Amino acid sequence: MKLAVAGKGGVGKTTVVALLARAAAAHGHRVVAVDADPNPTLAQTLGIHVPLTPLLENRELLAERVGTEGFVKLNPFVEDLVQRYGAEKDGVSVLVLGGIRAGGSGCACPASALLRALLRHLVLDAWETVIVDLEAGVEHLGRATAQGVDVLLVVVDEDRRSLATAERIWQLSKEIGIPRVYALGNKIRGPGFSQNFPGEIPVLGALPFSEAVEEAGRRGLPLPQIPEAWGIWRRLEDLLEEKQAQ
Ligand SMILES: Nc1ncnc2c1ncn2[C@@H]1O[C@H](COP(=O)(O)OP(=O)(O)O)[C@@H](O)[C@H]1O
Ligand SMILES: [Mg+2]
Repeated sequence: MKLAVAGKGGVGKTTVVALLARAAAAHGHRVVAVDADPNPTLAQTLGIHVPLTPLLENRELLAERVGTEGFVKLNPFVEDLVQRYGAEKDGVSVLVLGGIRAGGSGCACPASALLRALLRHLVLDAWETVIVDLEAGVEHLGRATAQGVDVLLVVVDEDRRSLATAERIWQLSKEIGIPRVYALGNKIRGPGFSQNFPGEIPVLGALPFSEAVEEAGRRGLPLPQIPEAWGIWRRLEDLLEEKQAQ
């Protein structure tokens, strides 16, 4: 399964990626979680404290594998990157990509090519999962990369502004051809989130506000698993089965 997680800053993208990655690993998947935020916090959230240099800041590696702007290899070799540049904890391997920013020329090609290759080559069978923690939106993904994503989850919390951001992401993700896009509630305090969701985006479900998660974040403790994350993971597996049956 190739999953990407987007949404307004602070809604809980990184937390959701970490919770779902762990749920996937516990279900026997080989999981690679890719941090594509320019301010990477995923490794720390998963309890990994070794410093990981963002791959996109490794100019030599980028030049060797992907080439430079205007001269990008379409199919760079990436299979060894997890081993060489990643770190593992609780069955989840983390790769820090760094932010995919359009450069001065407005081209995010090398970064996009690398992510596209990761999506394409790190997932070879049904028991492998890549989950990408995106910066916020999908505007830097590029069409070819976006189409490599099976499911995009757009995280929303109870702040209305996160809904506005989600709707923009949803529109754009349809334009660039991401096949399945769902809203996922996070930090939800009451019942009925899915039934009362005001937006147009189909809703996958919701994760509650968790004191334990909030405290772990505040104190820099390992993120606790919350039972609702299992339910969300199972729903994603059902979606994948439907996809395979098609
Ligand atoms: N379900 C939750 N319950 C309580 N606090 C949460 C939950 N999800 C995220 N948080 C807290 O919200 C803050 C932002 O979460 P984070 O995952 O870093 O968001 P983002 O990656 O979208 O910027 C963190 O302090 C985190 O601990
Ligand atoms: Mg984050």
